[in-house]
Amino acid sequence: MVSKSKPAPTDISNLTKAKAKVELTRLALEIERHDKAYYQEDAPKISDADYDALRRRVEAIEARFPELVSAGSPTQKVGAAPARGFAKVQHAVPMLSLGNAFSDDEVTEFVERVQRFLKLDEIPAIVAEPKIDGLSLSLRYEHGELVRAATRGDGFVGEDVTANVRTIADIPHTLKGRAIPASCELRGEVYMLKSDFLALNQRQEQAGEAPFANPRNSAAGSLRQKDVAITASRPLKFFAYAWGEMSDAPADTQHGMLGWMKQAGFVVNPRITLCHSVDDALAFYRKTGDERASLPYDIDGVVYKVDRLDWQERLGFVSRSPRWAIAHKFAAEQATTVLEKIDIQVGRTGALTPVARLAPVTVGGVVVQNATLHNEDYIKGVGNDGAPIRDGVDIREGDTVVVQRAGDVIPQIVNVVLDKRPASAKPYDFPHKCPVCGSHAVREDGEVVRRCTGALICPAQAVERLKHFVSRLAFDIDGLGEKQIQEFYDDGLIMHPVDIFTLQKRDARAAKKLRDREGFGETSVRNLFAAIDARRRIELNRLIFALGIRHVGEGNAKLLARHYGSFDAFRDAMLAAAAGQSAEGNSSEAYQDLNNIGGVGEIVADAVVEFFAERRNVKALAELLDEIEVLPVEQAKSDTAIAGKTVVFTGSLTKFTRDEAKAAAERLGAKVAGSVSKKTDYVVAGEDAGSKLTKARELGVAVLSEDEWLALIQG
Ligand code: IVH
Repeated sequence: MVSKSKPAPTDISNLTKAKAKVELTRLALEIERHDKAYYQEDAPKISDADYDALRRRVEAIEARFPELVSAGSPTQKVGAAPARGFAKVQHAVPMLSLGNAFSDDEVTEFVERVQRFLKLDEIPAIVAEPKIDGLSLSLRYEHGELVRAATRGDGFVGEDVTANVRTIADIPHTLKGRAIPASCELRGEVYMLKSDFLALNQRQEQAGEAPFANPRNSAAGSLRQKDVAITASRPLKFFAYAWGEMSDAPADTQHGMLGWMKQAGFVVNPRITLCHSVDDALAFYRKTGDERASLPYDIDGVVYKVDRLDWQERLGFVSRSPRWAIAHKFAAEQATTVLEKIDIQVGRTGALTPVARLAPVTVGGVVVQNATLHNEDYIKGVGNDGAPIRDGVDIREGDTVVVQRAGDVIPQIVNVVLDKRPASAKPYDFPHKCPVCGSHAVREDGEVVRRCTGALICPAQAVERLKHFVSRLAFDIDGLGEKQIQEFYDDGLIMHPVDIFTLQKRDARAAKKLRDREGFGETSVRNLFAAIDARRRIELNRLIFALGIRHVGEGNAKLLARHYGSFDAFRDAMLAAAAGQSAEGNSSEAYQDLNNIGGVGEIVADAVVEFFAERRNVKALAELLDEIEVLPVEQAKSDTAIAGKTVVFTGSLTKFTRDEAKAAAERLGAKVAGSVSKKTDYVVAGEDAGSKLTKARELGVAVLSEDEWLALIQG
């Protein structure tokens, strides 16, 4: 249920009649489509809130242009025609819908409307009921025996689901107790418990079936099965709350009728409350909303009903809904639930992200069990700009929290219900160690994200690190790209960088596994091993870059390699700097020296030191060094056509990537610049080159196509 952002609709007061007519036609079609998806396919495409917004717009436009109300308008009908496959049942009394209130004021207006209509001075007694989020059902009893069960369908004609309904334990086959009318239609809601829904979905997934989006859909899908045995195997439940045709009325109030239903053998919701003021009713709404998450079933609001049945009768209906009842909906897409636990996930690049594990709650029609908590500061009540958020309230395990889901983004925790904080709840202690590999996790100055420093050893980062390790500016192994790395990792053949170089000599099983790979014959294996062997000798700068240390890109790797000259010197200096690390900073000579390298700032220095402070990184590096030979820093060639020249690449290159082009140019002794000046020797222009090309032409700089460039460097 993804809500896409649409252009804001025209203000209704600005609509011309002609435009209004067009929009009403469009809205009617759209609503019809959604009705069908909801009622017949149990697969709603938009949230209830968005659907309500569509209907409200129709109502508002029709209120301005009453002459445009047509028989086909969504305001003139309820639901959608019954799905195919079940016999049709005409309801003796239509199953209508409820009008909605979204604010306290609208509830007050509802009660005032009732008073005006009945010319009452006093506030009428109101029954407040939870609005169960299931599907409504009408049960016909003749002389106390269940004879027919029907879904709502379009409100007038529903589907005959008698056989299915007979399998639901909450629905009596024979009515009990006093005052059983000769014939009566009992109505209520079929629903599924949240826990039963989750278990059912697990079974569905194990059986390779599509899971249901929410308990309502799973109840609807379970009820409308052609094979009754399937319905019988599904844990459906039923609350009674209304009625249709009734030959005699066993009571004269709504609450009296609910009492009668209960003694007749139905389950009536125990929370239903008789209210004597609007404040009482609103207090019920708020209490129910607060407790919504902890209820075992889904509700989407509360329903207020005028208690006296004679008043209900006088009030009657207006278009598709009764004047004597209204649904007060909960704010869309938000729900409260309990934050059971905070887990830390480690991303592919080492970022530690806190995730909220929640007591399951349906938010906007989807059951949510996990939500993001963004980062360490967010949990503390501090925003990205350092200013307090949520009035500085922190988030703790055990808290009751407000979960929000907007469109298809990951649900998030937007607030804490402080009144409900358990006395035992403690501020969350964000881990300083990676929960996946145990390496220390550090947070750089000015950064909100804490990161794992176990670059070479953290399984959460392994694949990403390996891809980086073999990338073009690092080890650049022919035939071992991102795709192969992923496959070899999945097969357990390459888990750490060193595994690339031990692949060949590892046991025969690994080699066989490799040869058995689809499209990976004897020759490919031989070629791969040759390509790996060719890279056993690697320049220091490439090795440093390959380690994937944060902030150490190609340029910084070169600065470091040039400064230290050999791998041993580099490693020894970094180990000395790491040993000098302390809470007060780092005053070691080695660290100072590192910091003083022109172009290497504190951020880079700290990141390198963090890498070497993790002993297991050092161990992994030592293992790798047993397999490879490190050459001094890559020297640019001086005897090529482009040695000493300055080159600028512009436009989109189709024959090679920017990185590739840059690396090749530098290897051949050229300098790659970002902008065109008089000092530029060549501009290599790809497709759609813009201002740089123009400038080159103005300055008379040589412009080469990609092919001409290739010819130049290969020639
Ligand atoms: S009374 C004439 N009471 O809400 C209106 N409806 O939006 C009779 N619902 O179709 C409905 N809980 O499926 C009523 N306590 C409750 C309800 C309830 C859920 C559903 C029902 C109805 C829809 C109206």
